[in-house]
Amino acid sequence: MSEVAERWGSRRAFIMAMTGAAVGLGNIWRFPYMTGENGGAAFLMLYVMFVLILGLPVMMAEIAVGRAGRRTPMQALSHLAVNNQRSPHWRWIGLMGAVTVFFILSFYSVVSGWSLEYLFDSVTGRFAGQSGAVIGQSFEGFLADPFRIIFNHTVFMLMTMTVVAAGIGGGLEKLNNVLMPLLYIVLFVLVGYGATTSGFQDALAWLFTPNLSVITTSVVLNAMGHAFFTLAIGACALMAYGAYMPEHQSLPKAVLTVAVLDILVALLSGIAIFSVVFSQGMDPASGPGLMFVTLPIAFADLPGGSLWLGAFFLLLAMATWTSSINLAEPMVAMVKSDRMSRSQAAMLVGGGVWLVGLPSALSFSTLKSWYLWGDGNFFDVVTTVPTDIFLPLGGALIAVFAVWVMDRDEVFKALGGSNALCQTWLWLTRWVSIPLVVVVLMAPLIKSWLT
Ligand code: TRP
Repeated sequence: MSEVAERWGSRRAFIMAMTGAAVGLGNIWRFPYMTGENGGAAFLMLYVMFVLILGLPVMMAEIAVGRAGRRTPMQALSHLAVNNQRSPHWRWIGLMGAVTVFFILSFYSVVSGWSLEYLFDSVTGRFAGQSGAVIGQSFEGFLADPFRIIFNHTVFMLMTMTVVAAGIGGGLEKLNNVLMPLLYIVLFVLVGYGATTSGFQDALAWLFTPNLSVITTSVVLNAMGHAFFTLAIGACALMAYGAYMPEHQSLPKAVLTVAVLDILVALLSGIAIFSVVFSQGMDPASGPGLMFVTLPIAFADLPGGSLWLGAFFLLLAMATWTSSINLAEPMVAMVKSDRMSRSQAAMLVGGGVWLVGLPSALSFSTLKSWYLWGDGNFFDVVTTVPTDIFLPLGGALIAVFAVWVMDRDEVFKALGGSNALCQTWLWLTRWVSIPLVVVVLMAPLIKSWLT
């Protein structure tokens, strides 16, 4: 139960590590298709609102717990609880987080595998000059091929677990430093391309003119879940990173930087993708395949398109890599013990996640009609329930822990901001963020009882 000794190399390294965790499939793949399925601008507006009034305070709480505890999540929680004369049972929040990320990582690896396949296909020029219809069909064909899907899922899982087995150190920091700036450059180029298409105006209108009548309890729930997912909070994964935070760094500033970068990536991807959607007369609500069909179409007519597309998928693969490392970290930290080394723990966790990923991998072929919940198959359920329910629930419990279990001075010290800022955080977390999560989680239940 001793303290961790490692620290991120610099303030910048910590911000980069958090951004690496936050920016991933959530921004580039999930955000556009969720926006498409949930009515456009209204969803975007709710998501940004949730990031600001829920995401920021909860993220600060989560990292502050890690920083004050300086241990792996379950140990940090029980250590702090016991020091404050509370029950060590608070540590089960850490277990819930680990189970949540277990399921998230299982489909995350499958979808990241899609981008590995597309990286390969684009550099070999497979999409160059193809029509939208052909590109659409080739994605369908790929999804229906269990061998290729499972192969890529396996490769991605191995990539993740190799880094996690080595421990998050210099490697991850260096990767992030190069990757993030490059990702922005390619995204700007894509938006520039979008601006030349006939769908650009429609895309902007779709993203920025909210139609409030599309908001239902499930749209609100989806937007809240997405805010947690994209910020990587609610599952103690950032808590694990917080334990390595340098002593003299202001947490509120770091968190705000990460949130802004994260929203920016989502917006840029959204503009680029919806420009193509509207210029090609496609359906914005076409689901998880959205990005994999629109982007190859966009690049198919660009000069040097195969290379740009290849660069895009390379960066996406790296962005998902840094996120999946973050997803795996709390589980590996938990499983690792005196008798089990880090590499063994990584192998065990990786094997388990890989297995549970199989039904997701097969959800577009063999198991397509294996309905677990209404008309949702395994993939549909695993991409929504952990995110929409367990991340917000975990986040709210972590916030309760930070504002009601921990000593006031202890948590303020871990936040490292001015007193006024800390007081504002405390008030917002207690009286706005936590009640809001409860209300949004309860709303669909209440609605279904009433009707
Ligand atoms: N935020 C990442 C994305 O947007 C996913 C992610 C990384 C995550 N670590 C997490 C989600 C921890 C929940 C919890 O792709």
